[in-house]
Amino acid sequence: VIFKDSQEPSILVAQEIASLIKDKEANHQPCVLGLATGSSPIKVYEELVRMHKEEGLSFSNVVTFNLDEYYPMDKSNIQSYFYFMHEHLFNHIDILPENINIPNGKVSADDLYQYCIDYEMKIKAVGGLDFQLLGIGRTGHIGFNEPGSHLNSRTRNITLDHITRVDAAPAFLGIDNVPRKAITMGIGTVMSAKRIVLLAWGANKAEIVKETIEGNITPEVPATYLQNHGNTTFILDEGASLEL
Ligand code: GLP
Repeated sequence: VIFKDSQEPSILVAQEIASLIKDKEANHQPCVLGLATGSSPIKVYEELVRMHKEEGLSFSNVVTFNLDEYYPMDKSNIQSYFYFMHEHLFNHIDILPENINIPNGKVSADDLYQYCIDYEMKIKAVGGLDFQLLGIGRTGHIGFNEPGSHLNSRTRNITLDHITRVDAAPAFLGIDNVPRKAITMGIGTVMSAKRIVLLAWGANKAEIVKETIEGNITPEVPATYLQNHGNTTFILDEGASLEL
């Protein structure tokens, strides 16, 4: 779906999330949200915060799982996704701290393998992801599933693509400061979500959006796997849809 800019669709996505939360609440069920970082979902989070403050939307039945985190990365670091999520969403709503799950960028190398298995188990234990919000990287990554990621991949430690590190460099004040690795949910994890919404804004995403939507399904562009997910919507602004 193509919109003029990111404002209106961000509000619509927030409204979809809010109705899901309320439906689940009415049925005394947890609402399990897979969340993304980056600039793309910021306005969605802004609107959710507004709905909490002005309309009393409660997040007390919400359980969240973030897609990814740099590795290694300290929670207190302003470049961490932990920091980003608290700054843009969690600090401003009534979610229970124990219901927030973000991959821990400080888990020791020895514990990492088991940590990723446990992250998956936690998602399964609450009934799976009801809704997964996604952005897209210029490599075609979703989460940090870089080119080469397998359809059945699950939460794991991954090496970041050079282009991804170049894109992250300004936030880290230089590419040398960008971590070389990350922990990310897998493609299989994302594809197991009952509903997926991918957001892409701006002309610098136009090329990868075209490849993702019109190209062949290939591990070289991991976002193309979404073509086979029955309940996914790509939400674009005019810039991101320029090459379609
Ligand atoms: C990072 C994140 C992705 C995100 C991508 C795009 O690589 N790991 O989850 O989708 O950036 O970011 P932006 O939304 O800022 O374009």
